[in-house]
Amino acid sequence: MQVITISGFKGGTGKTTLAALIGVAAVQDGLRVAALDLDRNTRNLTNFLTLRRASGLASPDHVMLMDLDRPAKRKSGKRLEPLVHMARMDGYDLLIIDTSSGAQTDIYEAHLLADVIITPMNESPADVHGLFTPPKAQSAPQNNYRDLIDTVRFDRMRARMPVQRWHVCRNRASALPTRIGRIISDQIDNMAAETGFDSSWQLRDRVAHRAISLDGRTVFDEPADGHLTMSEIAGRSEVRAMLAELTGLQYSVSAAA
Ligand SMILES: Nc1ncnc2c1ncn2[C@@H]1O[C@H](COP(=O)(O)OP(=O)(O)OP(=O)(O)O)[C@@H](O)[C@H]1O
Ligand SMILES: [Mg+2]
Repeated sequence: MQVITISGFKGGTGKTTLAALIGVAAVQDGLRVAALDLDRNTRNLTNFLTLRRASGLASPDHVMLMDLDRPAKRKSGKRLEPLVHMARMDGYDLLIIDTSSGAQTDIYEAHLLADVIITPMNESPADVHGLFTPPKAQSAPQNNYRDLIDTVRFDRMRARMPVQRWHVCRNRASALPTRIGRIISDQIDNMAAETGFDSSWQLRDRVAHRAISLDGRTVFDEPADGHLTMSEIAGRSEVRAMLAELTGLQYSVSAAA
């Protein structure tokens, strides 16, 4: 089983959208998928999965952290480990953990236990600053994401755990080339070389992705009018490209559901 933790420095970058899309794509490809929503404030992933179930759509299984409403005390740790163990014993192929911004112990543990970390970001200088500013820099954010990643890497190394993969996904990318897009792209590539993440992932800004919380329907589900738009077909293939890298499975891109 692979544990995939989706996280980031600030809100609204597309963590839940990515968790939802990857989860549904994997289920459609016959994988057994469990999903854990660590966002106590919004419960957006929980809401998405509830909507899907109500619409009769195949979904990842929703895994609950029973005492999520009680914030974990710092250093108390190890609330997720038994849950991950259970999911592994239950034969799941993927466990997808959606997080919120913040520095709670649960979030740290979700990173520590991850085989793969996926960090969506928007093409903006604020996102680059928030994600990659070294902890000791004068302008470093209080909740330092890079510090979190460095700490997790160090702690895993000490525990002799394998090196985890880290993918940064440029989300809501514009279809048109822009100056700011080019600048951010260069900055991300430089940071990738320095901090060791994979910068090749991208999700375009699409109405279909924004609409997933209407009734839980994604680009992978049969559209209400039976016709897939070009954008929805492209939306499928961009998510499948990510899933292929995650699972090592190969997909042929087609318009068929
Ligand atoms: N590729 C995309 N195309 C269009 N809209 C998107 C895309 N990705 C995300 N969005 C929209 O951006 C908003 C934020 O996305 P989402 O809720 O997934 O972010 P988040 O990182 O989970 O936010 P939070 O930190 O609040 O949990 C939502 O309205 C979502 O529909
Ligand atoms: Mg979210």
